[in-house]
Amino acid sequence: MDISSFEDDLAAVQQAPRRLRRSPEAVRRFGSKAALYAAALRQGDPLADALAADIAGDSTRRIALAFEAALTEGLASVVEPPDSLRAFFDHVEATPAWLDREKLDAGGVSYLRLGPALQICMTAALAAGYNSAASVKPLARTRRFIDSAEPRARETGIWFFKTLRPGGLAPRAPGYQATVRVRLVHAMVRRALLRTGDWNEADWGAPLNMGDTSRGIATEFTTVPIDAARKMGYTITESEADAMHHLFRYVGYLLGVPESLLPQNQWQARELTALIDLTNDGPDEDCRRLIHSLLNIGPSDLPPPSCGTCCMAMSGFSRATLMLIARESATRRSSTSCRYRGRSRGCATSSARGQASAPPSRSPSPI
Ligand code: HEM
Repeated sequence: MDISSFEDDLAAVQQAPRRLRRSPEAVRRFGSKAALYAAALRQGDPLADALAADIAGDSTRRIALAFEAALTEGLASVVEPPDSLRAFFDHVEATPAWLDREKLDAGGVSYLRLGPALQICMTAALAAGYNSAASVKPLARTRRFIDSAEPRARETGIWFFKTLRPGGLAPRAPGYQATVRVRLVHAMVRRALLRTGDWNEADWGAPLNMGDTSRGIATEFTTVPIDAARKMGYTITESEADAMHHLFRYVGYLLGVPESLLPQNQWQARELTALIDLTNDGPDEDCRRLIHSLLNIGPSDLPPPSCGTCCMAMSGFSRATLMLIARESATRRSSTSCRYRGRSRGCATSSARGQASAPPSRSPSPI
């Protein structure tokens, strides 16, 4: 290893929040990746943060309504968008050069094929996220996963199924909309936490920082559930695993994670997971509280995968059949309706014309 770059990387990790453990070993083993991760622990999401600030400061709610219109009909539908809205949507509407939409569908189908076991895998995934005192601080502060764990888990489940459904992440499709909305919710929570005045940035890093969000992408929503499914005896081939990671690479892109921290394949995700595990600060009382709430959620409290594709996945339909549905649903998506899939595109569009409420649809008020 180049000595000067080793020293630069070491200097960079020494600027990291105090939560980062074993930093010299991290630099020795992971080189500049350790420095990138350390910097991301301090980093919010400038594009979403600017938009959240504009929405919060706009008593006319015009920017919130413009956000709804851009989300459901595209930025081009908004007349004279404010700069923050334009910059945000320029980013989320851009198609990264690496994006392969067939692979997104293959990734979603690979999750859905796990059927009822997906719920167990995702419980494992949430639990894995609860082993870092610093990274759970936003959840411990908003308390939604503590005081109302069941509806909160259900909301994440609904987002997940919208995202996994074939075509779900196509421009303005339900999974795309839900994910972009989560990015704004994260920014609003970040803003609210910073305004409480007792956020300990020196110890924990930025609230909902990009290091923790990349951990969600590389570890909690991918590596952990894939490993959990394999431990239960499910076969997930290498190409299925890569497709699952590809789907989350794009989710991470939509959530504002910098490209340098978005794993390109399962091996890069495992490398980032190993770096995160090495430098992890370990659990505290907040983590124990969150785990306790998670374990008290009954199976019937999570959203049944009632959308057609999910039901078929539950009944053991083959991958080939689901891929066929993927192609068909891309053309039929707008006419379907389902209790757990939220409003159809048509409804969302009309709400954007006049009756949309300001995002997030439910404000993260407990802060
Ligand atoms: C891959 C990364 C992530 C994904 C896919 C994700 C997903 C979600 C979803 C679906 C919601 C909306 C739930 C609702 O409808 O209310 C949400 C909200 C929220 N997320 Fe994330 N999230 C990610 C990373 C994180 C991280 C790293 C944190 C930090 C602890 C975090 C903290 C929150 C908070 C505080 C809320 C507001 C609702 C609440 O208080 O529970 N998220 N996220």
